[in-house]
Amino acid sequence: MRALASAPAKTILFGEHSVVYDEPAIAGAVNKRAYVEITESKTDKSILKSYDLNFEAELDTKHKKYNLKRGKPGIIRYILEALNKVHDHSPIVMKLSSNIPIGSGLGSSAAVTVATLAALYRFHNIRFNKKSLAHDAHMVEQAVQGIASPLDTLVSTYGGLVYLSRNKKVEHFKVNFNAPFVVGYTNKHGNTGKMVKDVRLLKNRNPKIINPVISAMGQLTNYAKQAILKRDFDKIGELMNLNHGFLDVLGVNTLELSRMVYTARECGAIGSKITGAGGGGSIIALCPNSVDEVARGIAAEDNVLKIRFTRKGVSSRV
Ligand code: MEV
Repeated sequence: MRALASAPAKTILFGEHSVVYDEPAIAGAVNKRAYVEITESKTDKSILKSYDLNFEAELDTKHKKYNLKRGKPGIIRYILEALNKVHDHSPIVMKLSSNIPIGSGLGSSAAVTVATLAALYRFHNIRFNKKSLAHDAHMVEQAVQGIASPLDTLVSTYGGLVYLSRNKKVEHFKVNFNAPFVVGYTNKHGNTGKMVKDVRLLKNRNPKIINPVISAMGQLTNYAKQAILKRDFDKIGELMNLNHGFLDVLGVNTLELSRMVYTARECGAIGSKITGAGGGGSIIALCPNSVDEVARGIAAEDNVLKIRFTRKGVSSRV
């Protein structure tokens, strides 16, 4: 038996951090993916390997432990958690490949989690649908990270551009939103759990200041929804810049992120902001007429990716 699955990376356009306080958010699947293949092992050992990510490990699926043979896989805890949830602990060989750069803020952990679960369900012939898969993937992320909104795993499962409402209702944008974006990222990785905790502490210390900021972030996300529906790029750009300012207020900005955000604007982006948790990590810039200029500007000091949103969510087969 050979089971295969893949799932896309995501980027948050509006509403990171405020989504943790039940404000709306907008995020989309992008044209970078994680791929998982599961086969029966010819030995009595379970093996996880990835040539792209350059690691190999022997897995103890029952006890969520591993013995590293090569490399340093950041996402292994998500895979062990998924295996522990679904797998019967028979020896398997799991191959992972991915063109999602680690630390690029494109949610590689959610893509790997969704693809791993989908491949496992196929391998064990367990019936599933996108709703149950997104839910299970969210549980895996929560178990590993402590706090996680369902946004990343939802987008990696369903694909497309998604609006998550205040009461966690998912709406899929029907518009064809294929504007080019540039993602910039430094080698300094952010720590999502820590950033979410720091924002909470700041909010607890200054509720009268931070609560209105969080609700304004929710309001601007709703304006952004309208702007996307009208394909009003100037408005989307303006709202991205406002959203960036609010993220700075929440304390998740850094020198490197600022540098990339303002470089992007100087090179012609009509909007640019932190995407994801901040504190390191990445920025996203909307640049319909200046992708190459913006990419070149950011690449002078940092890493850069040109991305587009994609409708393709999880896919799996045996
Ligand atoms: C991280 O990608 C987005 C945050 O809003 C956390 C979450 O939604 O779980 C910062």
